Order: sequence, then structure tokens, then C-alpha cells
Amino acid sequence: MQKVVADFTVTANIALNSGCHALVLQSSGELLPILPGQFVNVEIPGNKEVFLRRPFSVYEVDDASCSLTLLVKILGRGSATLARVAAGEKLSLVYPLGKGFTMPAPGDRVLAVGGGSGVAPLLFLARRAALPPDSIHLLLGAKTEADHIDVQKYTDCATFYFTTEDGSQGVKGMVTDHLLFGKLSRYNKIYACGPLAMMKAAAAGAVEKGIFCEVSLENLMACGFGVCLCCVEPTVKGNLCVCSEGPVFNINDLTW
Ligand SMILES: Cc1cc2nc3c(=O)[nH]c(=O)nc-3n(C[C@H](O)[C@H](O)[C@H](O)COP(=O)(O)OP(=O)(O)OC[C@H]3O[C@@H](n4cnc5c(N)ncnc54)[C@H](O)[C@@H]3O)c2cc1C
Ligand code: FES
Repeated sequence: MQKVVADFTVTANIALNSGCHALVLQSSGELLPILPGQFVNVEIPGNKEVFLRRPFSVYEVDDASCSLTLLVKILGRGSATLARVAAGEKLSLVYPLGKGFTMPAPGDRVLAVGGGSGVAPLLFLARRAALPPDSIHLLLGAKTEADHIDVQKYTDCATFYFTTEDGSQGVKGMVTDHLLFGKLSRYNKIYACGPLAMMKAAAAGAVEKGIFCEVSLENLMACGFGVCLCCVEPTVKGNLCVCSEGPVFNINDLTW
């Protein structure tokens, strides 16, 4: 699949909560096709201490306005710099990178389990899946209510369930404490993206019930296209670069 280095113009930087921003980025030309689960590698502007690009999943794509949106959770210097960019600034992106999710088919019953910045590719998947909202359940886990980004605008594409560690929204506890986790056999496809422990729990449940399951890994990356080998993951097919052979993997291919 073709990938390019391209300058995008920031058209909006929206603070979703104290630690997470949505960056709307407009391309100067038509967007290349982007699949749910694929990512972009962003050059961090004006911060000489952060010279490696940083990978971010694509959260939204609007082909009509040639723009895409990233969800940026502030973790370190690179993401903090990105969270401060202003409308009108330019960002250099390498995109589209990696292999996306296997898209659900008509009639599928889908559970997507996400936490942290892992909600970004799952919401993109839910919007593109074109399934009735009661056939695609999104179970999102967070520490507290404020960590859950506003998903109201997506309720026409999926049905949402929440857990919070402090009980401020949805079921108190981890995603594995939610009733949906005890009813995995009602689904035929499970997707997960978020903290490693959350993805491993979803994968273990899927393996136990023999359900198709894909996870999107967030290994540390540098080049983003299979050259530097800093993102390798042991798999049943040997060590694979998460950036070029993933980030989405079928759990049967992982050695978890
Ligand atoms: C394929 C892919 C998709 C991603 N999608 C998103 C997204 O949609 N939204 C988003 O906010 N983030 C996403 N991330 C994570 C994002 O790339 C990192 O948060 C970012 O690179 C951190 O850069 P930084 O300079 O802010 O932090 P750094 O200063 O580089 O790191 C700060 C701390 O965080 C740790 N860290 C850095 N990257 C990661 C990581 N990937 N996993 C675990 N710990 C890490 C470092 O070891 C260090 O302790 C994605 C990562 C990958 C690989
Ligand atoms: S990030 Fe360089 S090979 Fe994956």
C-alpha cells in the first residue's frame, strides 16, 4: 500500500479532557485511503529534544474535507508538544502505516474492548463497520469518568458500555468485571486496543471460547515502516515488526 510524507494543517485542537486532545488535520490534497487500525507517524514540531516521529492511530477520517483526526493522550514530551499545537500550524505525517483490522461482515456480533488511547482505532472501526448499533458493543474502561472521552456522537454506530475503577461511570472495576465479559459467547468477533493487561484479558476470553479476536499493539516505535526493528513482537511466525506487520494481530499469531 502506498505511503507518503505529507504536510497537514491543524484546523482544530480540541481539549477533550485534561489529558487528551483531538487534533483535526487537513491535507493539502486528497487523502490516501486509510483503514481502521492504521496509524500515522507524526513529526513533533519545534521540540529539538524529540527528534523521532511519534505513532498515532487514525481516529476519524473525513474524505469530503480531506481531513483526519488524531486522539492525543499526553504521556511525555512529544505528545505534550502536540497537545499545544494551534490552528494554522503544519504537521508532517507519514501515512497510512501498518495493517488495519479485519472488517466485520454483515451479521457479525462484535465486541470491541478499549482503554486509554486505544479507543481511537476502535471508534474508527465502529463507524466504518456499517453494522446496526446493537450488533457492535464497545466496552470502554478508564480510571474515572473524566478519562472517558465524549462518545455521544457515535451512539448511532455502536452501543457503549463503561467501566471505571472508581465507579464514577458505568460498572465499578476493570473491563473484566463487566457483565459483558461473562457473555463473550454471544459475540463472533472481538477486537481490543488499550493497556496490555486489558488486551491479554480480552484475548484469553476469546481463546477460551474459540472466538475470532484481533488486538492492536502499541509497541514503542521509531521509523514506523519496518526498517529500524525497534518494535518487534515475538509471534508464532517469528519476530515481526509491529509497525509493518501489525499493529493489528490475530491473537492466534501471538505468543501470549
Ligand atoms: C500503532 C500505535 C498507535 C498509537 N495510537 C495512539 C493514539 O491514537 N493516541 C495516543 O495518544 N497514543 C497513541 N499511541 C501511543 C503514542 O505513540 C505514545 O503515547 C507517544 O509516542 C508517546 O510519546 P511522548 O514523546 O509523549 O512520550 P515519551 O517521552 O516517548 O514517553 C513517555 C513514557 O511513555 C512510555 N511510552 C511511550 N510510548 C509508549 C507506548 N506506545 N506504549 C507504552 N508506553 C509508552 C515511555 O516508555 C516513557 O516511559 C500509539 C502507539 C502506537 C505504536
Ligand atoms: S518502528 Fe522501525 S521497524 Fe517498526
